Amino acid sequence: MGSALATPLYFRHRIADPDPTVKKTMALRPYIVGNWKMHGTRAMLGEARAIDRAAERLMKAEVALAPPFTLIHATRKEADLIGVGAQDCHPAEGGAHTGDISAPMLKDAGASFCIVGHSERRSDHGESDGVVKSKAEAALNAGMSVIVCVGESEAERDAGRAEDVVLAQIEGSVPRGEGVADSVTVAYEPVWAIGTGRTPTTDDIAAMHSAIRNKLVEIFGNSGEGVRILYGGSVNPDNAGEILAIEHVSGALVGGASLTAEKFLGVIVAATGDQRD
Ligand code: PGA
Repeated sequence: MGSALATPLYFRHRIADPDPTVKKTMALRPYIVGNWKMHGTRAMLGEARAIDRAAERLMKAEVALAPPFTLIHATRKEADLIGVGAQDCHPAEGGAHTGDISAPMLKDAGASFCIVGHSERRSDHGESDGVVKSKAEAALNAGMSVIVCVGESEAERDAGRAEDVVLAQIEGSVPRGEGVADSVTVAYEPVWAIGTGRTPTTDDIAAMHSAIRNKLVEIFGNSGEGVRILYGGSVNPDNAGEILAIEHVSGALVGGASLTAEKFLGVIVAATGDQRD
């Protein structure tokens, strides 16, 4: 990590006014995203505040939180430094879709990124790759970046089909187009590792991330080299250091261990080797 990353002002500048000239350096920092799922009322805003305050000292990581829709606006107001995003969006800009939330609404509430295609959305709501891609496009059109989630089931891994499944999901879910690679992150989350305390071996993670990298280069050409690939599934303070050291692992999507500042900061510290004071 370059010493230029050690100043909080630099971090503030990036959030307030993204500067393409520093993008390459920033991409070297691990991107650690907390996914709060359907957890959190306003009583949890203190955790977001504590994470944000600590983020100023944890300059070696880019930190973001995806709270439930109902907390996006409040979290954005609490947090100056970390990214705040959404866990899903509807593909349409607006319309007669009772109970749904559009990407422009999320952007208006303060979200700067949107997770799409999480396996819980794919399984609970039957979201196909095509739907996930439309959601990603909607988020990009609204001016947000996207985290597109992919991952195989345990049966698919046991059948030796993990890589085929994941690459097919990427083929079908990742949006295309000029400049899109700059705003897309892929999260590889094996379904069987989510919330179970089980993780793939480092060799398996390395093999999958390398296959995903090749696929992204096939899709985006050279720009595919810069697309961040997160690992997700039972990341915690004890395994984050090892996982984040794997080649082509650019960060982590963290569920359970992001729900308290204590644990989430533990993940960030382990991922970056940084000191918390
Ligand atoms: P987990 O969830 O860290 O609780 O396994 C990860 C995710 O689903 O994003």
